[in-house]
Amino acid sequence: MLGNFSYHNPTKLYFGEDSLSYLKDELKNYGENVLLIYGGGSVKKNGLYDEIITILKESNKNVAEISGVMPNPTLEKLYEGVKIARENNSEFILAVGGGSVCDYAKAVSVSVHCTDDPWQKYYIRFEEPDCKIVPVGCVLTMAGTGSEMNGGAVITNHESKLKIGHVFGDDVMPKFSVLNPKYTMTLPKYQMTAGIYDIMNHICEQYFSGEDDNTSDYISEALMKSLIHASRIANENPQDYEARSNIMWTATWALNTLVAKGKTTDWMVHMLGQSVGAYTNATHGMTLAAVSLPYYRFIMPYGLKKFVRFAKEVWNVNPDGKTDTQVAQEGLTAMENWMKELGLVMKISELGATDDMIEGIADGTIIMDGGYKVLTRDEIVQILKESM
Ligand code: NZQ
Ligand code: ZN
Repeated sequence: MLGNFSYHNPTKLYFGEDSLSYLKDELKNYGENVLLIYGGGSVKKNGLYDEIITILKESNKNVAEISGVMPNPTLEKLYEGVKIARENNSEFILAVGGGSVCDYAKAVSVSVHCTDDPWQKYYIRFEEPDCKIVPVGCVLTMAGTGSEMNGGAVITNHESKLKIGHVFGDDVMPKFSVLNPKYTMTLPKYQMTAGIYDIMNHICEQYFSGEDDNTSDYISEALMKSLIHASRIANENPQDYEARSNIMWTATWALNTLVAKGKTTDWMVHMLGQSVGAYTNATHGMTLAAVSLPYYRFIMPYGLKKFVRFAKEVWNVNPDGKTDTQVAQEGLTAMENWMKELGLVMKISELGATDDMIEGIADGTIIMDGGYKVLTRDEIVQILKESM
């Protein structure tokens, strides 16, 4: 049975090759002092930075910049950004980049006018903002996280070796996002496929929870099928616009709060992957890929019915003459084959995890209770060892 919920997504989207042309109109809604945030330089190389600066100048904005936002943005970088935003009296934040840049922009937006320490308030105590929030708009350059249409903001604290996400509410979600699949074409293939698996896993995290026959599961299956189809085309030809645009659109729907409505969700793969990320600083999607199969094979008996459905509906496994367990196993094998076809990293040791890190990674793994089995710490260690 679907539970009670309210649904409202405040992010306005502009999608397609002409989508940046709407930025000028959007900028009219916000103050003069704009804080432009971007990453390590890809936007300068591919010319997007110049296009954005031109639009900002034509819109008579005073532009301050934060550059060098790294993948898995750090707490130190957040403090630096808050300082720059305060010094420049920033009234609007424009994030141009992937999930890291968009997440970071949201973290800055809730911290500029906050008198508390943001790490303690948002990432340790999980409190909601009670200060003025600086509005954020995004121009997305990488498909994966869904950050363009959600309230997520993941920050890594290297000192305490913790990578934690806070999912903020409507007030923090981007006011608008520009999604032009062309901008994702310059992504290195490693990042493209990591993003594809991130999308797949966002859907799985919401799908592998609960046993109700609800609409969300049908939406999830359609999203997964579209993603698998498009990923195979993009893997062969990364410049295929149709495939890249479908991947970008699927990424947004995979984590824009819709499919989770009215149902329970898991998120245990993300908790494992984030803790691996805190120790290795590895690419987010690859950390998920590396822990997924040991995790899903472990919980499969506890959620057998759903794993059978997954095998049949998503991977077209023929159930004739097979036990439920065999069907479910075939489904996971089909997913494994697809992951290998894409060249995803299947071991955390390949991401820099070493045996002596296992205990610490387990300690940093937040245990969720929405999946088919609430893991014990020993089980987390076992899954991590199987992921080595
Ligand atoms: O920094 P630049 O030079 O831009 O390079 C980036 C970065 O090195 C590059 N890149 C991005 N767009 C490009 C490009 N290179 C060439 N051409 C382009 N068009 O790709 C690299 C990775 O970018 P990043 O933003 O780090 O990747 P992603 O979008 O996967 O974001 C990862 C972050 O998002 C968090 C992750 O934990 C991680 O910190 N997540 C956020 C979520 C959310 N908001 O809901 C949910 C996710 O599960 C995830 O946890
Ligand atoms: Zn993710």
